[in-house]
Amino acid sequence: MMMGQRLKSLILITLMALSGAHSLRDNYYKYSCPNAESVIQTAVNTELDKNLKLAAGLIRMQFHDCFVEVCDASVLLEGPDTEKYADVNAKLAGYEVVDAAKAAVEAICPGVVSCADIIAYAARDSTVKLNGLRWEVQGGRKDGFHSSAANAEADLPPPEFGASQLIESFAKRGLSTRQMVILSGSHTVGVGDCSKIAPRLYNFNDQHFTDPSIDPAYAEQLKKDCPQNTWNTTIEVFMDTITPGSFDSSYYEVLKQKKGLFTSDQTLFDDARTRGTVNSLVNNGRFQKKFGEAMRALAAVGVKSGSQGEIRKYCRSVNY
Ligand code: HEM
Repeated sequence: MMMGQRLKSLILITLMALSGAHSLRDNYYKYSCPNAESVIQTAVNTELDKNLKLAAGLIRMQFHDCFVEVCDASVLLEGPDTEKYADVNAKLAGYEVVDAAKAAVEAICPGVVSCADIIAYAARDSTVKLNGLRWEVQGGRKDGFHSSAANAEADLPPPEFGASQLIESFAKRGLSTRQMVILSGSHTVGVGDCSKIAPRLYNFNDQHFTDPSIDPAYAEQLKKDCPQNTWNTTIEVFMDTITPGSFDSSYYEVLKQKKGLFTSDQTLFDDARTRGTVNSLVNNGRFQKKFGEAMRALAAVGVKSGSQGEIRKYCRSVNY
């Protein structure tokens, strides 16, 4: 009976591979590289033990990879004007962690595990490292051949976006408004730099010098952190003022206190279409469970299969 099930799975996998069908699955490497997930996790943890700041970068990397073309590791490619050299990716971090995970998995199963899948596993493992709840990650993405800085600038939503623009941007990828609010909860960890906050603090618009949607005391604090006329990208501010190093639901509490760092954060509480979801996610248990589900959806917004992609040997360059 057990053998029968196993044989059935193998036949199914082979048929899917031959047909080139999109086939994201849990336990994707169960037969082709049984230790892939644990080897990747060990490599990720080893790198994060050296620099835990990169955990937030790896969670963000999943978003930046999937929103530009599809989830195909195009964000990792080196070259003139590739995505990673777009301004919007200037602070994206964690590339060396992906390299280390790839080297570890190549050592046991050469040419089997894609870089796009490694991004998905590393985002999950980073969340767990920051005390978030584990979820099952699907595998089966192929790595793409192209990468364009212009596409990254065009496709990634900027921090000035309000609710309508965010809803539209996520809907274009088949993600719901609710999933957008849940995924934004990843701003419970990590930082933003002053250049992105300054427009809310100084000369905001004709009526208001400072964005009135920011709690006044918090705005004064931010002005001390980010002085006027120093549009500094090296000064960074935590996005979650309550528990910045821990992956939890306090981001939503921060929004209720009018302390969302970006317009794209605060709008989620200020807009009637998303406020209810924010209120419901203040519950940490619910947020943790929903976040994993939403990350599975994000990591499946588009997948290359068959000859549309390849399994790169090195994540920073296409195979020759
Ligand atoms: C909803 C639209 C979103 C906007 C407008 C946005 C914007 C930003 C911005 C401007 C930063 C600061 C980067 C810097 O200072 O250079 C940031 C950081 C971050 N974002 Fe988002 N983001 C969004 C959604 C997401 C999603 C969906 C994820 C992941 C699922 C994510 C994960 C992160 C993380 C973890 C950081 C911290 C990075 C670090 O500290 O290295 N963001 N985001």
